[in-house]
Amino acid sequence: MSAILLNNIKDVRNNIKAWKKEGFTIGLVPTMGALHAGHASLIKKAKETCDKVIVSVFVNPIQFGPNEDLDKYPRTLEADKKLCDELGCDIIFAPSPKEMYGADNKLSNTEFTFVCPPYNLVDCLCGKSRVGHFDGVATVVLKLFNITTPDKAFFGQKDAQQLFILTKMVKDLNLDLEIVPCPIVREDDGLALSSRNTYLSEEERKNALSISKALKEINSLYLNDVTDTKILFDTAISILNKNIELEYIEFRNFETFEKVEKASKNTLVAIAAKSGKTRLIDNIIL
Ligand code: PAJ
Repeated sequence: MSAILLNNIKDVRNNIKAWKKEGFTIGLVPTMGALHAGHASLIKKAKETCDKVIVSVFVNPIQFGPNEDLDKYPRTLEADKKLCDELGCDIIFAPSPKEMYGADNKLSNTEFTFVCPPYNLVDCLCGKSRVGHFDGVATVVLKLFNITTPDKAFFGQKDAQQLFILTKMVKDLNLDLEIVPCPIVREDDGLALSSRNTYLSEEERKNALSISKALKEINSLYLNDVTDTKILFDTAISILNKNIELEYIEFRNFETFEKVEKASKNTLVAIAAKSGKTRLIDNIIL
């Protein structure tokens, strides 16, 4: 059966009301579309554990900075719909910015209610260069939760900081749902799948491969008892291609998000770097 494509909130709510009457459990997979095998893995997991699955496809304007790729972000709704049909998803919710925010233009926190996650979680890693990004993510995700009232919501470890912040939001705000973390899906050569990979030239893609190589090497050193993050950091630097522009390599405890000097089980090693003009992120949890 093919997925129903819905653009407005009222229609989604009506479907959900009917499902709840039947006692069905609901899984939500929030996305910005341009779906790839990483997204598909989340949808598959949702299908395995929930009676009904909603995939949201919404390029959320309020999580993009002024000099970021909001306008050029890939929009491939037809192909996304096809993949969702194949995976047996029940509803694709693809609202317009006007439907979500009551306005076509990008709203600021002087005119709209935002969710602001703890400062120490948004002021580091990706939040350092993407000011306001995680407020925009938390706001849209809470809206999606309120619209779809899922039992479970599925997020990729690929965006580890996002996953951490949203898990904290659910706990702090007593949201009655479970966040299900899903592992990173990679190409055969190790590159983490991302909708932004389509921006990469062949050369830029080749250079970007050094990011996952560096993470892999850190993991194997760690498995051989190297825990000093200075040594692990230097190893990564030696592997990263000289043509990519490193933004950060960070070692964080994935239970507290605090920086660590000694790597241990559950240490998040996260890298952000630009290959050409394309900003890429990847990570590994030791
Ligand atoms: P988007 O980048 O489309 O990602 C949607 C979900 O897919 C996220 O949970 C992300 O972590 C996951 N994902 C992306 N690439 C993946 C990969 N290679 N392996 C596994 N999972 C992967 O993240 C967003 O959209 C937005 O910020 C959103 C949460 C939808 C809010 O607008």
